[in-house]
Amino acid sequence: MANIRFDDVSKRYPGKIAVDRVSFEVPNGTFFALLGPSGCGKTTILRLIAGLERPDAGEIAIGKKPVAGHGRFVGPEHRGLGMVFQSYALWPHMTVAANVDFGLAGRGLSRAERRNRVREALDLVGLSAEGARRPHQLSGGQRQRVALARSLAVRPGIILLDEPLANLDAHLRQTMLAEFGRIHAQARTTFVFVTHDQNEAMALADQVAVMDHGRLQQLAPPEELFSRPASPMVARFVGQGRLLAADVVASAGRTTRIRLDDTEFQVEGAAPIGPGWLCLRARDVELAGDGAAGERLNGRVVASRFEGGDHRLTVEVGAAGATGLVDVLSPQRGRIGEAVRLALRGGWVLAREAT
Ligand SMILES: Nc1ncnc2c1ncn2[C@@H]1O[C@H](COP(=O)(O)OP(=O)(O)OP(=O)(O)O)[C@@H](O)[C@H]1O
Ligand SMILES: [Mg+2]
Repeated sequence: MANIRFDDVSKRYPGKIAVDRVSFEVPNGTFFALLGPSGCGKTTILRLIAGLERPDAGEIAIGKKPVAGHGRFVGPEHRGLGMVFQSYALWPHMTVAANVDFGLAGRGLSRAERRNRVREALDLVGLSAEGARRPHQLSGGQRQRVALARSLAVRPGIILLDEPLANLDAHLRQTMLAEFGRIHAQARTTFVFVTHDQNEAMALADQVAVMDHGRLQQLAPPEELFSRPASPMVARFVGQGRLLAADVVASAGRTTRIRLDDTEFQVEGAAPIGPGWLCLRARDVELAGDGAAGERLNGRVVASRFEGGDHRLTVEVGAAGATGLVDVLSPQRGRIGEAVRLALRGGWVLAREAT
C-alpha cells in the first residue's frame, strides 16, 4: 500500500517555483530518501507532506486519504506524522524521559501507557539508561536520538527527517546512520529522510528520489541510480560520475556503440544515434598496459589523490576542444602530465538532449 502519494504537485513562492509538478509514491514501511543540492525543494516536499505548506496544484494523499488538493486540506495534527529536524528542539529544563513524554500529552493515553511508550522508545534508540539526564548532559548524537525517540513514542505511520545528521561530526554521522537503519527496521515505520549527502541517501534508502530545481529527476533504488542514471544531472550528482561527449553510432536494445576520440566502444544504455554522453565512474575504467589488446582511450593524468586505500587519478581524455575528465583507481600515485591508456570495463550511455 502506498503510504504517501504525490500527484503532479507544485508549490510556488513569490518569484520561485520550489516544487515543480512532482509525482511519486512511497510504499508503506519504506526508507525513502529525498536527495538533491541545496535549494532543490527537499524541505518544501517534507513540509507539504507534513501539512506545513499547501500545494498550489496537484494532490497529496497519506494512506488512502487525500490530505491536500481539490480544495481539501488536512492539518498537520491530523496526519499521523512524526518529525525530526537538524536542530533537535529539545526542552533544556526537562529530563530526557520528560522530553519524550512531552509529545504524548493530550492524546488520551493513561499514565501507565505513557510510561510504557517512553521506556520502549528510549530502548529502541539505545538510551534507556539516560532517561533521568538533561539534554545538556548528552552528546549531539544522543540528543538526536532523543528527538527520534520523541517521534517514535507517538507511533506515527510516517517519520519525516530533515537533514537529521547535519550537525554531527563525520564519525558520529556514520554511527547514527547505522542506528537509523536499525531503528527503521525495528519500528517498521515509513521514513522520509532528506539529505544533500548522496552517501547518506544511498547507504540506507530503499528508494531515492533525486531532485533538481524543484523537479524530480529520478526515483530508483540506490544501485540503479548509480548504474543507470536517467539524466546527466543524476550521473554527475550520484557517485562522482564523469560525463564525456561521445557520438552514438548504433543502438540496439540495451547496448550502444559509441565513438570517442576516433575509437569505437560497446557500452550499456540506450540513446538515439547522434550526440550522446558516456557516463564513467572509476570502477568502469582500468589502466591498460601497452601490450594489451582491445579498444583504448588515451589520456594524460591531471590530478592524483589518495582515497580509500587507492590513488584516484583524474585523467584528461579526448582531442583538443573536446576533452573530458575520467577517474581511474591505481595502486600507484599518478605523475601529473603522465600519458596513460585506459580500458573501459563498464559505462552508461545517455542521450545528449536529456539535460
Ligand atoms: N518560505 C519561503 N519563501 C520564499 N522562498 C522559499 C521559502 N522556502 C523555500 N523557498 C525557496 O524554495 C526553494 C526550495 O527550498 P527548500 O528549502 O525546499 O530547499 P532544500 O532542498 O531543502 O535546500 P537545503 O538543502 O538548502 O535545505 C529555494 O529556492 C528556497 O529559496
Ligand atoms: Mg532543506
